[in-house]
Amino acid sequence: MPRHHAAAVLATPRARLSVERMPTPDPAPREVVVRVRAVAINPIDWVIQGTGSVTYRWLRMPAVLGSDVAGEVVAIGSEVTRFRIGDRVFGLATGTDRGRDSRREGAFQEYTTLLEHLTAPIPDGISHVEASVLPLGVSTAACALFQPRHLGLAIHDPADARPRDRGVVVVWGGSTSVGMNAIQLARAAGYDVVSTASPRNADLVRSLGADVVVDHGSPGAVDDLVAGIGGRTVVGAVALGETSTAGCLEVLRRTGGSVLAMASMPVSLAELAGRRRLFPAMLPVFSRLGLRTLLLNARARRAGIRAAFIWGTSLRDDEVGRRLWGRLLPEWLADGTVRPLPEAFVAGDGVGAIQEALDRQRAGVSARKIVVTL
Ligand SMILES: NC(=O)c1ccc[n+]([C@@H]2O[C@H](COP(=O)([O-])OP(=O)(O)OC[C@H]3O[C@@H](n4cnc5c(N)ncnc54)[C@H](OP(=O)(O)O)[C@@H]3O)[C@@H](O)[C@H]2O)c1
Repeated sequence: MPRHHAAAVLATPRARLSVERMPTPDPAPREVVVRVRAVAINPIDWVIQGTGSVTYRWLRMPAVLGSDVAGEVVAIGSEVTRFRIGDRVFGLATGTDRGRDSRREGAFQEYTTLLEHLTAPIPDGISHVEASVLPLGVSTAACALFQPRHLGLAIHDPADARPRDRGVVVVWGGSTSVGMNAIQLARAAGYDVVSTASPRNADLVRSLGADVVVDHGSPGAVDDLVAGIGGRTVVGAVALGETSTAGCLEVLRRTGGSVLAMASMPVSLAELAGRRRLFPAMLPVFSRLGLRTLLLNARARRAGIRAAFIWGTSLRDDEVGRRLWGRLLPEWLADGTVRPLPEAFVAGDGVGAIQEALDRQRAGVSARKIVVTL
């Protein structure tokens, strides 16, 4: 391992990412160091870059952002048992979370550390680029579906016969990165899925196992979902996309469902993300956000619906993370139960290409994951 390597660094809040040399980390006992070959971009990356001084106040500068990593193991900690040097792996980098060190654990650099229990081998036939699209999307989906504080669904063990007729999961935003993973995981766990997508992505979402796909841009989306559910038992809903919470609450109210896992804020922070100054532009945006959240929570309470926000990296500390990354994901990927989606769009090569990739993600994607090779 080199003593230093290139990283895309956020030097100060809201700065553009710059390429800097960083010390290459040594692994802690339960960590692996990875030579990163591909990273994928998530909306949270530009949200932290643009608003982190308010939304991620704990993050120390300079910081290294990024959650999605695929690469090769180049060093292993003293207690690591599942990996060897040279293994092709992918994993969830949680360096921007409170209490973590983004400079050791951020994805956007040539070498990073991953926690052994949030890392999995890449099966033969799947490239680094393909594997890199998964970590935050699949982890957030697993939090929504399996954590007891959200839908709390039973995790199906691949060794058992696939259970049937466990009920219906509503995935609003089935063509998002998290949504495509949520559909695949819910199906693998034995649940039916109804979902939403733009008409151009409806066939793709259907191919993942959703038996009803309605247009989330249509004023009749809620009616169409309720009709598609057709009296089946609804075990909960996962809300992805700015307008998804209101839609899901209405579907749950009308079908007797009582649990909602929310991934998206009801107001976009995209307009704040590109600004050099947050104040005063943030005042109306955060006021709208606070007000809408209050109203949606009140509506959920009135309808007897338990609604809570997901934190996609929170499985770091629970059994859902250990089972997903340690057992289920490697098996489901290898046998094709889970496909690495959304399809990657390689936007550039080298850490110097990451800022432009972030800008591209913020400008909007449709059923695509922006990836940079390193
Ligand atoms: N809380 C957490 O821990 C966490 C973690 C990850 C992501 N998230 C949030 O979850 C959301 C999805 O993230 P992602 O990375 O999966 O997104 P993404 O892949 O960037 O989402 C892009 C997709 O959004 C869809 N979309 C546009 N308008 C929509 C609407 N009104 N309702 C539903 N979908 C709509 C588009 O589908 P069409 O082109 O088919 O319209 C597009 O394919 C974002 O809000 C993100 O911030 C939260």
